[in-house]
Amino acid sequence: MKESKYITIDESLKKNLTQVNLRGWVYRERKSNKFVFIVLRDESDIIQCVISKNKNAELFEKAEKLTIESSIKVSGELKKDDRAPTGHEVSVTDLEIIQIADPFPITEHQSPELLYDNRHLWLRSRKLNAILKIRHTIVGAIHEFFRSNGYYEFDAPVFQPSMSEGGSTLFEVKYFEDKVYLSQSWQLYAEAGIFSLGKIYNMGPTFRAEKSKTSRHLAEFWMAEMEAAWMNLDEVTEVAKDEIRFIINQVLKNNRKELEILKRDISLLEHYAKVEYPTIKYAEALRILNEKYQMDVPWGKDLRTIEEAKIADHFKVPVVVTHYPTKIMGFYKPPSEENPEEALCFDMLAPEGYCEIIGGSERSLSVENMMERLRKEGETPETYDWYFDLRRYGSVPHSGYGVGVERVISWLCGLDNIKDSIPFPRTMLRKTP
Ligand code: 4AD
Ligand code: MG
Repeated sequence: MKESKYITIDESLKKNLTQVNLRGWVYRERKSNKFVFIVLRDESDIIQCVISKNKNAELFEKAEKLTIESSIKVSGELKKDDRAPTGHEVSVTDLEIIQIADPFPITEHQSPELLYDNRHLWLRSRKLNAILKIRHTIVGAIHEFFRSNGYYEFDAPVFQPSMSEGGSTLFEVKYFEDKVYLSQSWQLYAEAGIFSLGKIYNMGPTFRAEKSKTSRHLAEFWMAEMEAAWMNLDEVTEVAKDEIRFIINQVLKNNRKELEILKRDISLLEHYAKVEYPTIKYAEALRILNEKYQMDVPWGKDLRTIEEAKIADHFKVPVVVTHYPTKIMGFYKPPSEENPEEALCFDMLAPEGYCEIIGGSERSLSVENMMERLRKEGETPETYDWYFDLRRYGSVPHSGYGVGVERVISWLCGLDNIKDSIPFPRTMLRKTP
């Protein structure tokens, strides 16, 4: 690759350069009679650039025309300056204007809705830039975790003939003369894949027609799933814990600067990266909620967000909750042999109010039990005949889980709303830009 004479702000600071050629966008500008101050932004950082009328009147006149988000190239002398926003300043000796930007629609103190309407432009903000870099680390960490532990990447169709996680959140799509649904999960297809590859994983777009307007639900999100032959509930929950700790360690290794920009409490993340995470049963979770916090949750009800939040905050670290009531769980989550009222399944709940980040289970091996539960849910078990074949031809115990990638990003970045964890969020109320 031909070396460019331009380097990023970050590189020029790291290399302690004194003469720099930078290019980017005007992040902020301030003009006085004698000076134009520009905060220049590129993909790596921001830096103050100053153009002095006394030193170069022609350059000063040019710089006076600059507007927010104008694209420019600058050359100049880089030096430390404690008064500048990031501690350094470029004294500009040359300025090339690439484009003078129209008045930028995003100014300070905008409503969240305006920022979502202008998402294509708001991606340039320091906040989104930091989140997107952390997202990049997390996605990379998930691939690395599974690949380095002997899992094969395995792809499933996005067009699927039936539901896996309940009919009420399916997106229906016209499919030639017929209809199909957008994937709610990779899982059912993964259960076919393990008979060939043993341990597999995937990360892909996942769709749920969630009619909830919470700060934790997207209609389109990325789920990172794994499935493994011969694995039981105890083993699979340990994989999930290792994966989460691995992700946090990678973020700590690569994104300290971004965490600081987001004002995230880094010492908390360091704590989550090291400690063991408890595993408790649903029944134990109810005991804690009802006895310690005087909540009144009857056995058999799914945990609501406030209850999940209480459990995770009780332990102050991610908690794995297993053995939820079979009757409220998906058809493929098997009843436990000791107590068929309890299913061999788990959720991982993140602290600080972020709640469920993972859902998983052992998989039922009983075709009859699954058929009966599907019928109860109003499904036609015949549609699942190919899936039941997996129980007919060399069935083995197996387990898997799915990580909500945006849920993890939101938690690790400390975001108020999951919509900020993905470049272009899709929810019940938002499908543009
Ligand atoms: O708990 P869920 O529904 O589990 C499954 O789909 C299983 N088939 C996964 C498996 O075993 N392979 O979804 C898994 C995770 C949730 O814990 C949550 O973190 C995330 O996916 N998730 C969502 N994230 C954002 N918006 C939504 N609407 C989500 N629904 C689920
Ligand atoms: Mg779930």
